[in-house]
Amino acid sequence: MSELERPVVRPRRLRTTPAMRELVAETTLRPAQLVLPMFVREGIAEPKPISSMPGVDQHTRDSLRKAVVEAAEAGIKGVMLFGIPEHKDALGSGATDPDGILNRAIADVVAEVGNDLVVMADLCLDEFTDHGHCGVLTRDGRVDNDTTLQRYADMAVVQAAAGVDLVGPSGMMDGQVAVIRDALDGAGHADTGILAYSAKYASAFYGPFREAVDSSLEGDRRTYQQDPRNGREGVAEALLDIEQGADMVMVKPALAYLDVLRRVREVVDVPVAAYNISGEYAMVEAAAANGWIDREPAIIETLTSIRRAGADIVLTYWAVEAARLIG
Ligand code: PBG
Repeated sequence: MSELERPVVRPRRLRTTPAMRELVAETTLRPAQLVLPMFVREGIAEPKPISSMPGVDQHTRDSLRKAVVEAAEAGIKGVMLFGIPEHKDALGSGATDPDGILNRAIADVVAEVGNDLVVMADLCLDEFTDHGHCGVLTRDGRVDNDTTLQRYADMAVVQAAAGVDLVGPSGMMDGQVAVIRDALDGAGHADTGILAYSAKYASAFYGPFREAVDSSLEGDRRTYQQDPRNGREGVAEALLDIEQGADMVMVKPALAYLDVLRRVREVVDVPVAAYNISGEYAMVEAAAANGWIDREPAIIETLTSIRRAGADIVLTYWAVEAARLIG
């Protein structure tokens, strides 16, 4: 046998047994690294399934309280809350109403599991506006950056008063992190942190989420969310947010942007989160429902890939189930 047929280097030695593979595994996936995004809807008596996201519900305030207790018991460490109001208007008034559904839900969740979970909330107007955009509009229908910032500042203070640990600005307005930091500090909420959705792309994979929040959006968000062709810009956005006071930054979506996630991880020192979004969830669920892929290994491989690319924290609709699987 020549040396060509007898390899000297044999990478397979480190793959021989489960114990060996465990010993040399580079990437960890732990329940504490997972955050569950959750929806709470005003004016429903029972939780309402979201058809495009099998297994995910719009919660009532009551069912939300029960679900966060389960989440805490599963060992995950955070939830990201989204509110769906009964009435929407041009300014998204429900977002800044202390009695609005999201703010009430924040207080509920903090009271229920505030010691065990980091309570985060989406800080954006799109669930609250009748036009469905993330900001307020000018007369001629454009999203008005600086007027929107004022709304975000107010929204941050109301969420902080409700007890939120981290606000999650996701509207991609320029300067939003600085304005929110300043508003929080000015209102005596210096301890409330900011998880900035820094590199957020105008993605086709948000489709199911639009059903989840009963979105009224027509058109798209391309004048504020990033162009999928731009990677450098994602890094620049993350750096800008850190300069403005972000405690953590996020890349979103995750799977189609793993390169951006890696690049951001390499240049920042704050924790980096990635959001495994609704469309990414729905694709796996749909394929699994058809018997085309093996669901549980596909979930774990998906989440592991996001960790391997550099995410410290993964937001995923599978958080509780995955925590139980890897427990
Ligand atoms: C905006 C927001 C969106 C998502 C989270 N925050 C939707 C959008 O930008 O259109 C999407 C999350 C998902 O698809 O799972 N408030």
